[in-house]
Amino acid sequence: MPSTITKPVRVALVTGAAQGIGLASAIELLKDGRKVVLTDLRLPDFNEIPVELRANAFSHILDVADKEACRQLVEELEKEHGGVDILVNNAGLSIKNAAGQSNGILDVQLHEVQKMLDVNVLAMLNLCQLTLPGMKAKGWGRIVNVASLAGRGKSIVAGPAYMLTKAAVLGLSRSIASEMGQFGITTNCVAPGRILTQMAMQAGEEVNRNYAAQIPVKRIGEPLEVGAAIAYLSGESSGFTNGAVIDVNGGFLMT
Ligand code: NAI
Repeated sequence: MPSTITKPVRVALVTGAAQGIGLASAIELLKDGRKVVLTDLRLPDFNEIPVELRANAFSHILDVADKEACRQLVEELEKEHGGVDILVNNAGLSIKNAAGQSNGILDVQLHEVQKMLDVNVLAMLNLCQLTLPGMKAKGWGRIVNVASLAGRGKSIVAGPAYMLTKAAVLGLSRSIASEMGQFGITTNCVAPGRILTQMAMQAGEEVNRNYAAQIPVKRIGEPLEVGAAIAYLSGESSGFTNGAVIDVNGGFLMT
């Protein structure tokens, strides 16, 4: 019997979408027929999006830590596209020291922790608060928050500031999932392991080679492999997946 699941045109807002996992997720959502608003500190290069998908792609500059800019954008999307149905909170940062490493527990500064909290967690909370009322009114919504292996278990390169923000993403997501599931809104996380993006390249090739050797699949992941998990969690058929975490880490952490 043919599937009865239809795919209405949903509007997805993806943060940190100029490159890496955010851009790959945006492309996967476009392949699924979504309208996608790509946002970042700079505009994405549309040449990186397959030409046949570009008609449904839109872009806006957005610093997720700027609460007023977020409010304005969500309002604008409400007027232009009927609101945000899918929110992918992907923007994130990991501050490194002069040696290109994360400060350890004895050196980490509170201002670093605050900056990472602002972008990795509080901005996510703010965007959820801004978009949830619209999703609730429609009785449908998908929120996908990008956590990390670093919030799930031990990490080889992440420091305490990054790890605490990514653990916080998991708690925040479970809380929203518990409260909003009854309105047809699911909230889930992806927890990528080592993925080959600019963020991972900060650590240098040798660190990444050593890392790959410890992963059962013996390689580092591709942004597309996280994008595919995000697209699944954003899908029409993922409505019974709520409060979950999909580990995309090549088997580095198995729970
Ligand atoms: P990336 O550094 O290539 O991309 C991150 C994007 O976020 C950049 O385009 C950057 O401009 C944007 N961004 C940073 N601060 C922002 C702000 N205030 N407002 C708006 N955009 C901002 O990194 P990647 O790897 O694509 O990271 C995406 C997400 O995946 C992050 O949340 C990161 O923590 C997470 N992640 C990445 C892993 C990896 O190995 N690459 C592993 C686990 C999690």
